[in-house]
Amino acid sequence: MTISLMNLPYPHNALEPVISGATLEVHHGKHHQAYVTKTNALAADRDLGASDLETIIRWAMNNQDKALFNQAAQVWNHGFYWLSLSPDQSAPSGELAARIDRSFGSKDALVQQFAEAAVGHFASGWAWLVARADGMLSIQTTHDAGTLMVEHGIPLLTIDVWEHAYYIDRKNDRKAYVEAVLDRMLNWDFAAANLAREQVWTYPA
Ligand code: FE2
Repeated sequence: MTISLMNLPYPHNALEPVISGATLEVHHGKHHQAYVTKTNALAADRDLGASDLETIIRWAMNNQDKALFNQAAQVWNHGFYWLSLSPDQSAPSGELAARIDRSFGSKDALVQQFAEAAVGHFASGWAWLVARADGMLSIQTTHDAGTLMVEHGIPLLTIDVWEHAYYIDRKNDRKAYVEAVLDRMLNWDFAAANLAREQVWTYPA
């Protein structure tokens, strides 16, 4: 199968003013598209053209194929990121809210830890909310294309902290981008769905 560029789940300008339409057009239409194009080329070179994205990522990791891993993991991470954001306000409820209280004490404490991790992460990468194997939620970061798709636990939300995610809107002010996303843009319904599914989200075919 050929890996496709996943459609954005909202119009390009739907996240304004937190994330501009100009940023999303470049981020989705250029960066995400480039990862898709390169993944397909590298996968075909390795006779993986019939494989789904998750299989390609695992194969690249197991074979220490860094070139393929970086492109393929970035395809997956970006799909997960688009769904981690939403123009519709939501809030944790039910099991998710209970797990947040148990793990962090409160949603505010979670948001503070998420912000500190995302702002403090050195250079390019991702900040994640994850449900660990022991059932507790925690904040983690990964470097560059590092993905929680292949780690133990279930990723619930992610924030892209590569500069291309915010530079058009905020220049080098990652803190302003992260705080605005955490304040208004997180898709708690997506987090709840990931938690309830008890399986890692799969990139659409
Ligand atoms: Fe990105």
